[in-house]
Amino acid sequence: PPIIAVVPAAGVGSRMQADRPKQYLTIHGKTVLEHTFNALCDHPLITRVVVAVSHDDPYFDALSVARAPWLTRVTGGHTRSESVLAATATLPDASWALVHDAARPCLSHKDIDALIQTALTSSVAGAILATPVRDTMKRAQPDLTEPALIAHTENREHLWHALTPQMFRADQLRAALEHAQQAGIPVTDEASAMEASGHAVALVDANPANIKITRPADMPLAQFYLSALHD
Ligand code: C5P
Repeated sequence: PPIIAVVPAAGVGSRMQADRPKQYLTIHGKTVLEHTFNALCDHPLITRVVVAVSHDDPYFDALSVARAPWLTRVTGGHTRSESVLAATATLPDASWALVHDAARPCLSHKDIDALIQTALTSSVAGAILATPVRDTMKRAQPDLTEPALIAHTENREHLWHALTPQMFRADQLRAALEHAQQAGIPVTDEASAMEASGHAVALVDANPANIKITRPADMPLAQFYLSALHD
């Protein structure tokens, strides 16, 4: 079955303090979104990309890639999971959805390979890229004091950062996202919806260079990692 990339790109990126959503900021003369598309399309096993774009997005149509034959555009939702659901609605049941944040342009070929390999050959419903936590993790007390106070220290031994891409069967992902939505389960990535439906999901140890651009300081970092990737 085909592997189809799904790119949620309907966020506004309010933490960037920029004049436009972060996926439209440029690095080396190309938008972050175009770098992300390139990383996905360059892979021989990825046949199509479905992108979720905000209904009032004035930037997407200006990209030359907007008319590429391998690209399908859908209208995104109010949350990331609504955007992903809108995109997966266009996928054939038996296909694989490889969901990847628009704001992660520094994705390597090698990590896509590792993800696909694990998702297709292990006895799991799917797999995600992730990196083990290195810092000591503190849980803060829930009341919003200034300064915040530590409630306790988490055991970091089995803690991972969830990255993207995250790869699942399109029909299973769609059902899991719908179930989470109906049950009011908070979903910040696709795996959390799959977990809530009882599916086993594998962690694939990935390159930590695959950062999500979130704050202004992430732009020069992404530029550095992109140069390193294409050397
Ligand atoms: O805001 P955050 O960095 O968590 O967004 C992760 C990804 O989800 C981004 O690529 C963003 O464009 C996308 N998103 C979306 N629809 C929303 C909110 C976020 O497609 N309503």
